[in-house]
Amino acid sequence: MPSVEGMTTHEIPFLTLNNGVELPALGYGVFQTPPDETVPAVEAALEAGYRHIDTAAAYGNEAGVGEALRRSGLDRDDVFLETKVWISDYGFDATRHAFDKSAAKLGVETIDLLILHQALPSRFDLTIEAYRALETLVADGKVRAIGVSNFMPDHLDRLLESTATVPAVNQVEVHPYFRQPDVLAANERNGILTQAWSPIGGITFYRDGEHTSTLKDPTIVAIAEEHGKSAAQVMLRWHLQQGRSAIPKSVTPHRIAENFDVFDFELTVAELAAIDALDTGVRGGPEPEDVTLESFGRDIPEA
Ligand SMILES: NC(=O)c1ccc[n+]([C@@H]2O[C@H](COP(=O)([O-])OP(=O)(O)OC[C@H]3O[C@@H](n4cnc5c(N)ncnc54)[C@H](OP(=O)(O)O)[C@@H]3O)[C@@H](O)[C@H]2O)c1
Repeated sequence: MPSVEGMTTHEIPFLTLNNGVELPALGYGVFQTPPDETVPAVEAALEAGYRHIDTAAAYGNEAGVGEALRRSGLDRDDVFLETKVWISDYGFDATRHAFDKSAAKLGVETIDLLILHQALPSRFDLTIEAYRALETLVADGKVRAIGVSNFMPDHLDRLLESTATVPAVNQVEVHPYFRQPDVLAANERNGILTQAWSPIGGITFYRDGEHTSTLKDPTIVAIAEEHGKSAAQVMLRWHLQQGRSAIPKSVTPHRIAENFDVFDFELTVAELAAIDALDTGVRGGPEPEDVTLESFGRDIPEA
């Protein structure tokens, strides 16, 4: 897998996807960022140096991402835009139209990375039709790379059996308390880049009992103190040094900047292994096998 070891201080590392497209390894996520807070938050992220934004049709804030990009004065080509098709828009024609909706809300002609937000295990026929639509969007020059999210190894196998393009990315829950080594291995075996969602364990912050917040984990805090960095910075460095893309979310300007300030230190092999060993095997997000249209379907509005 690609590695950022040895890169020079403050250089934004890029990862090369399996179709040659380059992705800034560290991106900025906007899940649960309310639409009215999205413009200032994304502006702060672009100001801090992020050049990769991860949104989704289901987040309801693609328009804010597009507005922030225009206000930033940056060239469209200088910012890598990633978004996701929601399950309610799966099907060949519906997914082609989902591109139109997302592109119009973002205010762009081309989307850099368009991914399926979830597999629909009980309607895998629809999942495959949706993915075939993504393949045609690449052929049309409307999308530069395509991928998936929350696909477990058997979902990947089923997809690869029926389609021609290996996904460039599988965006899955990965943080020190839930590492999904089987998914990481399946991605690597197939030449798919793993992109970590909830990379600093945001989904663990609201738990009761043991292993609540990764930010307070004694092992991570000790490593952070050793390097004069924060727990969040250590977790992001762990992803980057292991060759993953990571997309931390924050609406707080000083944290947005803190999460980008991770290019001037390096974790040792022993520190990486100590973080690996924190895996609890407990998932924070929905069980991918249980995602159905009945339980999770909802209308994605027109632009
Ligand atoms: N594909 C999927 O199904 C899926 C699911 C979930 C997430 N995602 C993607 O992954 C992105 C990140 O995931 P996430 O939002 O769940 O989790 P996260 O990035 O691991 O954590 C976000 C939480 O951490 C806080 N935070 C951020 N930086 C911090 C720092 N330096 N110190 C202390 N607290 C900090 C944020 O608070 P404030 O905002 O208040 O600062 C927020 O509560 C999302 O925005 C989205 O793009 C994808």
